[in-house]
Amino acid sequence: MVSNPVLEAIKSRRAIRSYEDKPVPESAIQTMLEAATYAPSAINVQPWKFTIVTNKAEMKKLSDTAKPMLVRMLPDVGDEGLAGLKKRLADPNYNIFYNAPQLIFVSGLKSPYGIYDCSMAAQNMMLSAYTLGVGSCWIGTAVALANQPNVKADLGVPEDHEVHAAIIFGYPKGGFPKAPEKRPAQVLKRIT
Ligand SMILES: Cc1cc2nc3c(=O)[nH]c(=O)nc-3n(C[C@H](O)[C@H](O)[C@H](O)COP(=O)(O)O)c2cc1C
Repeated sequence: MVSNPVLEAIKSRRAIRSYEDKPVPESAIQTMLEAATYAPSAINVQPWKFTIVTNKAEMKKLSDTAKPMLVRMLPDVGDEGLAGLKKRLADPNYNIFYNAPQLIFVSGLKSPYGIYDCSMAAQNMMLSAYTLGVGSCWIGTAVALANQPNVKADLGVPEDHEVHAAIIFGYPKGGFPKAPEKRPAQVLKRIT
């Protein structure tokens, strides 16, 4: 495959779940936010808004509230992954934000395309972070809680907006792990 910096970032970014106790510099945050704003969006509405959290006690509080809520929400099916997640969520030492130094919520005006637009912005943030040596991990387990009216208000998210993504950032402890090969693309059909 052709190699260039964009492909390198796409193929080497990893979900990072262990972080150095070191803040992400403001210059890196600004670069990531700017990268987010260059994402494509339906009818160019650019709906993304950001809530930046660096207070670890607040993150722990959110994590402690999210965990029992998720355990109640998740179905009791015999799925191995789900059972593992439920077990982690029941562990008092598990922090859904992995003690990362930085958490950013991406919200957008409620709309049919908001989730796609904000997800694109989120991916731009994670890829640009990687190019700066900053690790990241999308935290889907935080979104249901973030959309509870009282939490949403605390995050500064207006009532007519929805939180679509929560991403943690920080310097990876021990560097970036090597990316494993992913399954090859499955082309269902070529219509020529
Ligand atoms: C929508 C979404 C939600 C995710 N939620 C979580 C999460 O709550 N906790 C977590 O540790 N990782 C979460 N992840 C990260 C995935 O587990 C990770 O991307 C996947 O295992 C592939 O690993 P990689 O990113 O290193 O390629 C999420 C990823 C996505 C895209």
